[in-house]
Amino acid sequence: MSTKRISLTQYLIEQQRGEAQIPAQLRLLIEVVARACKRIAINVNKGALGDVLGTAGSENVQGEVQKKLDVIANEVLIEANEWGGHLAGMASEEMDDMLAVPNRYPQGEYLLLFDPLDGSSNIDINVSIGTIFSVLKHQGGPVTNESFLQPGTAQVCAGYCVYGPQTTLVLTVGKGVVMFTLDREQGSWVMTEDNIRIPEDTKEFAINMSNMRHWASPVKRYIDECLAGKDGPRGKDFNMRWVAAMVADVHRIMTRGGIFMYPWDKREPNKPGKLRLMYEANPMSFLVEQAGGVATNGLQRIMEIQPTQLHERVSVMLGSRNEVDIVTGYHQEVK
Ligand code: AHG
Ligand code: MN
Ligand code: MN
Repeated sequence: MSTKRISLTQYLIEQQRGEAQIPAQLRLLIEVVARACKRIAINVNKGALGDVLGTAGSENVQGEVQKKLDVIANEVLIEANEWGGHLAGMASEEMDDMLAVPNRYPQGEYLLLFDPLDGSSNIDINVSIGTIFSVLKHQGGPVTNESFLQPGTAQVCAGYCVYGPQTTLVLTVGKGVVMFTLDREQGSWVMTEDNIRIPEDTKEFAINMSNMRHWASPVKRYIDECLAGKDGPRGKDFNMRWVAAMVADVHRIMTRGGIFMYPWDKREPNKPGKLRLMYEANPMSFLVEQAGGVATNGLQRIMEIQPTQLHERVSVMLGSRNEVDIVTGYHQEVK
């Protein structure tokens, strides 16, 4: 890319003027989410000094213990977004039901879904965490949970922010994937990648290996073949990474390729997987596809799944095209 760096604001204004023309309301929405992420980053960085570590003493609708930062990040996103006039409603991992924009504020055209703090188990150990978000168009009428149950293909924007050694915002409005890095001195988001592409091939996989004994046979077969390395059917050695924050694992794949999997397993056979479709798998799938990668649940494209519940879970395999195709093929063989 050229050496002249542009800001998020300039990028969005250019997108608004450009051929495909993103609407002004969507531009405002993205600016507001980016501002909220900046505020979350400030809280994350304070750590013990800001009393933001540890648990909040509550559980979310999924029965997970909430960390203080889960709650803080959720509040920051709500407060930033409820008054701007760009949203009709919001839904979050940390709220049982969707939240309509209060009557005292104008109602906009969009629906925002988010995982306010992804990788919560990393907070207290000072390892990368993030925020994931997805934007849908409200189809009209009163806003209810059902308004959000649109397939991933209906997303008009998706993104994530990584709170790591650098704070980075990765974004798509359906025209490729761009990355911004937070310039803390200026307080602004500066574009540092203008067209992220995921390599088609990789030698790196990400999966929680401790669940191996619970996996279905296609996943076991795929990983066994990776582990067999040069001497096995794949004829090459693989490396493994697992950050335990999807946002950080996906960011690595955006940067240098790889495959990430959180498949269905036998621990809770009635659950389709661990990750949530609406605010984890769908936005990440949109980003991955826009960067030339693939995202499936083993049998179908994640973005084509018709959701039936706000907090629905899904099996996830995403990243470098050729690897995701192989493991998806193994699932289809035993269907
Ligand atoms: P969250 O912190 O939002 O609940 O998400 C955590 C998810 C995901 O980010 C990560 O890939 C996975 O859980 C880690 O699971 P394990 O604890 O099995 O490693
Ligand atoms: Mn998460
Ligand atoms: Mn979370």
